[in-house]
Amino acid sequence: MIIAIDGPAASGKGTLARRLADHFDFAYLDTGKLYRAVGLGVLRLGGDPEDEDAAGDVARNLQPSQLDDDELKSDAAASAASKVAAIETVRAALLDFQKSLAANPPGGKKGAILDGRDIGTVVCPDADVKLFVTASVEVRAERRHKELLQRGETSIYERVLEDLKERDARDSARAVAPLKPAEDATMVDTSAMDADQAFEAALKIASPVVAEKLR
Ligand code: CDP
Repeated sequence: MIIAIDGPAASGKGTLARRLADHFDFAYLDTGKLYRAVGLGVLRLGGDPEDEDAAGDVARNLQPSQLDDDELKSDAAASAASKVAAIETVRAALLDFQKSLAANPPGGKKGAILDGRDIGTVVCPDADVKLFVTASVEVRAERRHKELLQRGETSIYERVLEDLKERDARDSARAVAPLKPAEDATMVDTSAMDADQAFEAALKIASPVVAEKLR
């Protein structure tokens, strides 16, 4: 049983995916972390995230321990992530890991939830449930801005808005696995929803499918 959740930056897909995974007792993979870890890895080696060879090397040698780094949440990691994410060899190197987690959820779980940009289109095109979570770019910038302030980082709303627009454009325009809803995805616009309302909306879509599949 696979639930694929895609959407642009700060749309609330991570929070939603985590809550659904708790609710159904499924495994959860935040695939953005993989790209963030590759981006951060390149930066730490003093390399350029747009350098195909450097990014490809880091992606092929990625270790699970690199996914528990607090720096992954930083804006620098996010921006480097969206640069390495446009490189085909990087995506290819990360694909097997994602596919195998979806096919064999760890811990004997009966299902897996993956969130990202291309889960419904590339990683798990046969997912049982596909959600595409969106919100206006202003709402998303407001959420990310608050999140940064809560973490004690300095943040300027206008700057966050510009960063998101830049990342949206890069994610949507790239040739390989661009950010776009799968044809059979259900759209969930969370612009006017809080986290609880988004969770309720997603449950309405996913619950009947999960119940039927695990019957
Ligand atoms: O949480 P937020 O949406 O800001 O970022 P994220 O989901 O951690 O993803 C960071 C970057 O990784 C995105 O801007 C994408 O460029 C890239 N990404 C991707 O290309 N494919 C995925 N399945 C997940 C993330």
